[in-house]
Amino acid sequence: MRDLLKTELHLHLEGAAPPAFIRAKAGQKGLDLSRIFDTSGGYVQSDFATFLRVYEAACTALVTPQDFYDLTRAVLEESAAHGVIYTEAFLSPDFCGGGDLDAWRDYLAAIETAAIEMEGEAGIVLRGCVTCIRHFGPEKARAVARCAQETAGRFVTGFGLAGDENVLQPRDFAYAFDAAREAGLGLTAHAGEWAGPDSVRAALRDLRVTRIGHGVRAIEDPGLVEELAERGAVLEVCPGSNLALGLYPSLAQHPIDRLRRAGVKVTVSTDDPPHFRTTMTREYEGLNQRLGWEEADFTEISQTGLRAAFCDPDTRAAIGKRLEAR
Ligand code: ADE
Ligand code: ZN
Repeated sequence: MRDLLKTELHLHLEGAAPPAFIRAKAGQKGLDLSRIFDTSGGYVQSDFATFLRVYEAACTALVTPQDFYDLTRAVLEESAAHGVIYTEAFLSPDFCGGGDLDAWRDYLAAIETAAIEMEGEAGIVLRGCVTCIRHFGPEKARAVARCAQETAGRFVTGFGLAGDENVLQPRDFAYAFDAAREAGLGLTAHAGEWAGPDSVRAALRDLRVTRIGHGVRAIEDPGLVEELAERGAVLEVCPGSNLALGLYPSLAQHPIDRLRRAGVKVTVSTDDPPHFRTTMTREYEGLNQRLGWEEADFTEISQTGLRAAFCDPDTRAAIGKRLEAR
């Protein structure tokens, strides 16, 4: 499972920071973040609200562009070790200079430099999906959209919405998404994770996204499942994240297989891997052992991810060749 070549569409850069990395960065800055680590040194794990607090506290240890350069290298090294050859990461201007455009350019340059290096050293391609955070509100999202708009190109290729799904409505972020769409960015929004089918419908309708982050609770409405299949919407499913945060008790009860059988395009990602004690290898092992997915299923999943990737045609073709060569 580790050696299968993989594509991953849903990974939060800061959420993928290894706990030892954050501990070291906090130590260098004299920050006491001991409250976010458990006795074995991993991130404290509990419910979604706790997760968001731990996540945001960890981000306080990431201060300079150099921190994000180091982070990007560490994250891509880990992904490459699990067979990932193409990954999209959610990048948050809110945590990179607070949405200020000049500061964002500096952080982004550091992230991109690290990405180019890791492409050469480990054969993994990264593209950035600039992301606003729902519970930070629409004003912050406007600044984030401006950052996205001004830096859209070969590296920044997408725009997303993460954060607490039960705060505000997708339509409150329509301005930001309209700006991102005009800049030619691919669009995705977290929905159908902490709220039900109506939340997914609202994201599709009001933000006109082609992909949904999670989206698994669409399963609660057969009409919506049919609509997702018909319009070819792609779900960025993160089974390990959903289990760790208590959305479903086990993979046997997780809807990924039912959604796929209903003709919905599903992909597999880790979301925030160290927070959920997962890796892409572990995700694949679970799907293999609990749901009987075989190599052909994983090949199809990787291809679905590549087709839905927010990258340029040349990059897609190059990754496609590497997937087929296997
Ligand atoms: N930010 C990072 N991970 C997230 C998740 N699973 N849901 C919403 N926002 C997030
Ligand atoms: Zn996510």
